[in-house]
Amino acid sequence: MSGLRSVAKASFEYVDNVFERAFGPELNPMHQLGALGWFFYWIVIVSGLYLYIFFDTGIDQAYESLEYITNVQWYAGGVMRSLHRYASDGLIIVMMLHLLREYAMDRYRGARWFSWFTGVPLLWFVYACGISGYWMVWDVLAQYIAIATTEWLDTLGVFGETIARNFLNPEILSGRFFTLMVFIHIAVPLFMLLVMWIHIQRQNHAQVNPPKGLAIGTLAMLLVLSLIKPAVSQAPADLGTVPAIINLDWFYLAAYPLLDRFSGLTMWAIAAGGTLLLLLLPWLPPRRREAVATVNLDNCNGCGRCVDDCPFTAVKLQQRTDGAAYSDEAVVTHDLCTSCGICAGACPTSTPFRRASELVPGIDLPDHGMQALRDDAMAAAAGLSGNARVIVFGCKNGPGLQRLKGAGVAVLELQCIGMLPPSFIDFLITRHHVDGIFLTGCTLGDCHNRLGNLWTESRLAGERDPYLRERVPRERIGKFWAGMVRNSRLAQELAAFQARIAKLPPYQRSPRSTASQQPAENSETNG
Ligand code: HEM
Ligand code: SF4
Ligand code: SF4
Repeated sequence: MSGLRSVAKASFEYVDNVFERAFGPELNPMHQLGALGWFFYWIVIVSGLYLYIFFDTGIDQAYESLEYITNVQWYAGGVMRSLHRYASDGLIIVMMLHLLREYAMDRYRGARWFSWFTGVPLLWFVYACGISGYWMVWDVLAQYIAIATTEWLDTLGVFGETIARNFLNPEILSGRFFTLMVFIHIAVPLFMLLVMWIHIQRQNHAQVNPPKGLAIGTLAMLLVLSLIKPAVSQAPADLGTVPAIINLDWFYLAAYPLLDRFSGLTMWAIAAGGTLLLLLLPWLPPRRREAVATVNLDNCNGCGRCVDDCPFTAVKLQQRTDGAAYSDEAVVTHDLCTSCGICAGACPTSTPFRRASELVPGIDLPDHGMQALRDDAMAAAAGLSGNARVIVFGCKNGPGLQRLKGAGVAVLELQCIGMLPPSFIDFLITRHHVDGIFLTGCTLGDCHNRLGNLWTESRLAGERDPYLRERVPRERIGKFWAGMVRNSRLAQELAAFQARIAKLPPYQRSPRSTASQQPAENSETNG
């Protein structure tokens, strides 16, 4: 299983890289697959509502009403019909890529099982919506789908009478089936919306809208496609004949030819077995879990920064239990924590400036604590030589770091780059332990822990607590979000950064900041 995942991961990294060159990190569609899924969903809903105004649900009128929409009202209804179809196809494409990508990047096991598990029913809902949609057109393709689907359902033997016989003869076909199909085509998307909402409940700050540029570009692409190649019906259904050559929509109907080849029960076994396998995948095998974040009430003032920054909704605030003067305290839900350490990077008490006592922040990872990080950073800095002494902080899920090491370069690998409190950068530079700090990790927009590099950028820019103090000279901070694939470029960026800081005059604190910071140094907190 892990071999398969490695191949899938390498393939995605390659494709990501190609897209990144074309779109840049922010607009890379491979990083927005879930958000694009939502975007396509809304296009389908809006265009569907428009079509419903003009669609006639009678067996004899359905085809005619769609012909009117497509040909007479081509400039509005026709475009809406095409948007409806192409956005539905787009939904299938991004959903399948999203599924494969979450699997390939190992973002579906351990505490992250919930999103995967709730994603599986979405597959069935999307297919049910698409197939019922094609059915409603009532052309020869709909006839083919109607017969093939009902024959397949009949093999279950749960309906009192065979339902396929409804489609063998025009006299038998009743409007009830049409009403049922319209009901399915409207009810399933609504239910799907509820499951989509549940799907992202364990994602803090879930991204459900693609960036503006990507949204506009995608919509424009669909519009152009709709005008160049409008969605049309095939010949009207004729129950007196057996449909011959059918143009299938391979996104939704690829499995239909298999129904001719294998027995209905075999196809049920494949569908049920496949669904079960997908549902169980997060536990085949389960992810080895590391010790989760723990709260130290003596140092927690209930500020809530960890709650806001945890990407997996694993921290909550609850009423104080220890009688301290603060109203709230942080509490970690064990089962939701992925041990990414981002909460510790957010806590105002995670500061290396405190030397009087051991560094015990309000929230910390037992196996990757802030005290150990401070000790490691000090030891690493002490081993550096030259006039461009740099510590590289990187993430264990990002690029390979070890080969960057050298006389002037030390490397510290973190659970996630979002685990690094900005006060560490401040401390190491302003106390002359190093000449520069270099940060690296996953590509922007594709953090393995969802928000780590995004929060780091915002903290450095002073847009998010705990922010990096203004006194820290920005020219002594380098960063390159290399991801897994841009290792050689990372080495070049680091070398260029070192060359730049070697030319800088020795760092000196401004007299104003020296005067204002000096007395507080032993108890300083950041942000
Ligand atoms: C209609 C189809 C779907 C839509 C619209 C959708 C949308 C989303 C969105 C918006 C997120 C949050 C992304 C973020 O902010 O990090 C997400 C996460 C996720 N989705 Fe889906 N999804 C769909 C189907 C699926 C399917 C079929 C699967 C797999 C069976 C799946 C697996 C996951 C997983 C594992 C995550 C969590 C990733 C993490 O923890 O970082 N999704 N999805
Ligand atoms: S380590 Fe902290 S930020 Fe990461 S999942 Fe656990 S509680 Fe959330
Ligand atoms: S960030 Fe630190 S101090 Fe604030 S609530 Fe979380 S643990 Fe407590």
